[in-house]
Amino acid sequence: MTDQPTPRAQRFAGRRVIVTGAAGGLGQVVAELFRAEGAAVVATDVAPAEDVVACDLSDDAAREGFVADALAELGGLDVLCNVAGIQQFAAIGAITADALRRHFDVNALAPLMLAQACAEALVESKGNVVSVASISSVMGQPYNAPYCASKAALLLGMRALGVELATRGVRVNCVSPGGIATPMVEAAAAGLPADTNWDLIARSTSVIPGFMPPADVAEALLYLASDAAASVTGANLVVDRGVVW
Ligand SMILES: NC(=O)c1ccc[n+]([C@@H]2O[C@H](COP(=O)([O-])OP(=O)(O)OC[C@H]3O[C@@H](n4cnc5c(N)ncnc54)[C@H](O)[C@@H]3O)[C@@H](O)[C@H]2O)c1
Repeated sequence: MTDQPTPRAQRFAGRRVIVTGAAGGLGQVVAELFRAEGAAVVATDVAPAEDVVACDLSDDAAREGFVADALAELGGLDVLCNVAGIQQFAAIGAITADALRRHFDVNALAPLMLAQACAEALVESKGNVVSVASISSVMGQPYNAPYCASKAALLLGMRALGVELATRGVRVNCVSPGGIATPMVEAAAAGLPADTNWDLIARSTSVIPGFMPPADVAEALLYLASDAAASVTGANLVVDRGVVW
């Protein structure tokens, strides 16, 4: 008997989806799962990859151009899935204004402005927005102030949109992951200071050990984007192996 993957339900057949941050890590898996469930997907990232439209989402003109092209190509939109993000650890003395601005631009401003640019199309389709926040949106992590601050801004910004757009039939939700096995974790760690206090870091370690496979988090995103979550809006679905209780 050959080892065939189990066919997935076609929850997104005929649905049109934008996925950001899709060149690798979590976003790539999210785009693959949406496609596997029948969606037409426009995937984007600042990094080049196959089937991915190149766009620096922190660049206002580039982002606006990308959305206009994606909406025209898809003929509307059912799901905006904000996955792109950056994280660079730094001790307090090493934080620069530029690094702080960059975290806000990519992690908070870009997803919120994307939601604004997609809002009318989503009203039309009674669609939804799903954004990847983080456990760092709701807990202080050492050496991670720029990321925590920007992800907290993203979470509350999305919740505000959730309230506002609920009256027009659009749902807005977040998934907040703990540690995922992606390139981000390794890259971020490069900013840890030489005298890192590992006891402090250990306080935000999950009870179930190990980094999560991206698919575990992607499944939560697809659930929130699906009709099964028709009554869920303004939510923050934590997927973290038991860090935030
Ligand atoms: N890895 C973790 O432990 C973890 C934990 C919690 C939340 N998250 C969040 O999950 C999301 C996905 O991260 P990941 O772990 O897959 O990391 P990743 O670094 O593999 O993926 C992030 C993607 O975003 C893209 N990106 C960065 N800046 C961009 C820009 N200006 N314009 C367009 N694309 C840009 C990157 O090129 C990359 O492909 C991020 O929002 C991240 O903050 C990750």
